[in-house]
Amino acid sequence: MEMLGGLSPNEFLRDYWQKKPLVIRQAFPGFECPVTADELAGLACEEGVESRIVIENDNGKPWQLHNGPFSADRFGELPEKDWTLLVQGLDHWVPEISDILEHFRFIPNWRLDDIMASYAPVGGSVGPHYDQYDVFLLQAQGHRCWTFGGHCDHTSPRVEGTPLRILSSWDGEETVTLAPGDMLYLPPGIGHHGVAEDDCITLSVGFRAPTIEDVLTGFTDFLCSKSQAAQHINDPELTVQDNPGTIKSGVIDKLDRIIREELEDKRNLALWFGQFTTSPKSMDIVVPAEEPAKPEDFAEALNAGEQLRWNEGSRFAYHDLGEETALFVDGEQYLLRGDASPLAPLLCASSRIDMGALRTFAEDEALLGLLCNLYNQGSVYFE
Ligand code: SIN
Ligand code: CO
Repeated sequence: MEMLGGLSPNEFLRDYWQKKPLVIRQAFPGFECPVTADELAGLACEEGVESRIVIENDNGKPWQLHNGPFSADRFGELPEKDWTLLVQGLDHWVPEISDILEHFRFIPNWRLDDIMASYAPVGGSVGPHYDQYDVFLLQAQGHRCWTFGGHCDHTSPRVEGTPLRILSSWDGEETVTLAPGDMLYLPPGIGHHGVAEDDCITLSVGFRAPTIEDVLTGFTDFLCSKSQAAQHINDPELTVQDNPGTIKSGVIDKLDRIIREELEDKRNLALWFGQFTTSPKSMDIVVPAEEPAKPEDFAEALNAGEQLRWNEGSRFAYHDLGEETALFVDGEQYLLRGDASPLAPLLCASSRIDMGALRTFAEDEALLGLLCNLYNQGSVYFE
């Protein structure tokens, strides 16, 4: 695969993914950045778009962070060099950026975080740091000099006086300058520092795994939202005890049994995980249609040969539960059985849905209703 420097996706996953950095020259030959610096600045002025400006020396203070949205005037007040504008979730707002994700489908949808863009004039950087994510740093415009290498963690020394986690005594091991179309893959925990050599745009294709805390709190919250969670623990077998202060081991055994029974339910775990990993990051991303379409109208558009695609911000995943298949779209869950089950993998395979196969499913009234519902909820649209 050209994008992986001649490695197959299997070889990349085996030898580099979560293991070591990889520099790929011309991963995207002839790459042209789909956004301009002005467009990024425009997005950073919009409510609902997450953006930040990092200034290396802000009136004598090191590595200062400013959160958007910004007023257009803000960009006129910035120093000539040594600052960076970051725009998060660019794939949600720019379809051509979202299309880049098609090249990364060898990594499961649930691992995807988003594509962040950075713009920097010469000298701009966000400082030496490490991330908790896997990231593919695609050089989109201009040149950036990356120094990277060495494992870092929370014990690594940090610069004082900045809200950012900037590494203080870190040298890195390797230095490369990336030109448009070049890409650097970094696993979590590897120190890196990318400095703009000219007017520079870098796209960070980020893959984030949930933390153990996310899993524990998320799953237990999910269990608690079920109606039986409100039930009180009962003890009709209570007997008189010598000391009323004693908490008998039988009580602890009962609690232990309840916790085990709840936590052992893998079906619930799968249902929670699918919903959790496909939930939109903000309410602005998946917006329901103002006037919902009727299934008949939706079917007409399908039969007219129109191409249906995922909303740029939507997340699709599915899990095979044996008897049924759970489809997850933007934090919602749909259970499909029998002949309907293959609809889930079909919808999840690619952001442009295979319309020939889809039309067969849409002949079923219930499935047409489901598809129309996905459309009305804003998760898919006709291109
Ligand atoms: C950047 O694009 O300037 C920063 C991206 C990163 O280091 O994660
Ligand atoms: Co980083």
